[in-house]
Amino acid sequence: MTEKIILDCDPGHDDAIAMMLALASSELEVLGVTVVYGNVSLDRTLRNACVVREVVGRDVEIYAGVDRPLVRERVSAEAVHGASGLEGPHLPTPSRGPEAKHAVHFIIEQVLAHPGEVTLVPTGSLTNVALAMRLEPRIVPALRRIVLMGGSLDTGNWSPAAEFNILCDPHAARVVFESGVPLVMFGLNLTHQTPAVPSRIARFRALNTQVGEFTAQLLEFFRQHHVERYGWDGAPIHDACAIAYLLKPELFTMQALNVEIETNEGLNYGRTVGDVWRVTGKAPNCEAGIRIDADGFYDLLVERLGRYR
Ligand code: RIB
Ligand code: CA
Repeated sequence: MTEKIILDCDPGHDDAIAMMLALASSELEVLGVTVVYGNVSLDRTLRNACVVREVVGRDVEIYAGVDRPLVRERVSAEAVHGASGLEGPHLPTPSRGPEAKHAVHFIIEQVLAHPGEVTLVPTGSLTNVALAMRLEPRIVPALRRIVLMGGSLDTGNWSPAAEFNILCDPHAARVVFESGVPLVMFGLNLTHQTPAVPSRIARFRALNTQVGEFTAQLLEFFRQHHVERYGWDGAPIHDACAIAYLLKPELFTMQALNVEIETNEGLNYGRTVGDVWRVTGKAPNCEAGIRIDADGFYDLLVERLGRYR
């Protein structure tokens, strides 16, 4: 039984790898890719999603979403992903653009058309998802689950307390985390266990395919920021963790806990506050990733991306 998914993303190096992993995996029926502002502005994240589709040669529809957060000013991460948002490899000119329909309308249409079957996989800010919930509340009980990359049970990255995707739009994140939809969260506390060190990058290059080389060049560029900023030998492939969970959940150790979003301005603005020791007595609202078998994760990535010829 394939799982119907909609990938909502802001490509972005790791979003691109998540998209390629999803499109290579027959366990998943990718109903569409919806795009949101985030790593770079919407015009560029949208083009980048179309570029990834061109590289992998898969027939998947792409939909443009919103270009800014609900309330706060838009932030972006050119320092991490470069001016285009996908610096590193040659980016082919897409032969096809996005569909005319808005991403939020596409999400609503698909979830209502397949009640109980659609999984949303947000790997960027949660603005598209929150707007879909507000525009059509009937999608909340109709969603199968949401499996997202965002937040952190320990440190932030875009502020000391907050992770980028959540900090982009804490109000949207609060809508999603308070919605009651079955939620699986992969925060930095987990994704930082997956550094793409040179020996792992070499495995993609050793595929001797266009996709393998494209992936290797993405990761070589993505690694630079992480060497300079964190002193790490590789960049975490944050977003691919969410797709990998759908494919091989046994690679992950999870914990059910209550996570709340700080929406008050200040030092902890955008922080995902996980009640790890259940001191509040509040019922868990998500399953959070705690540990990942990183070697198994890379074995999966190499095997699946190796399916592109
Ligand atoms: O903080 C990491 C997350 O923010 C990743 O999804 C990355 O692509 C950016 O969107
Ligand atoms: Ca992302």
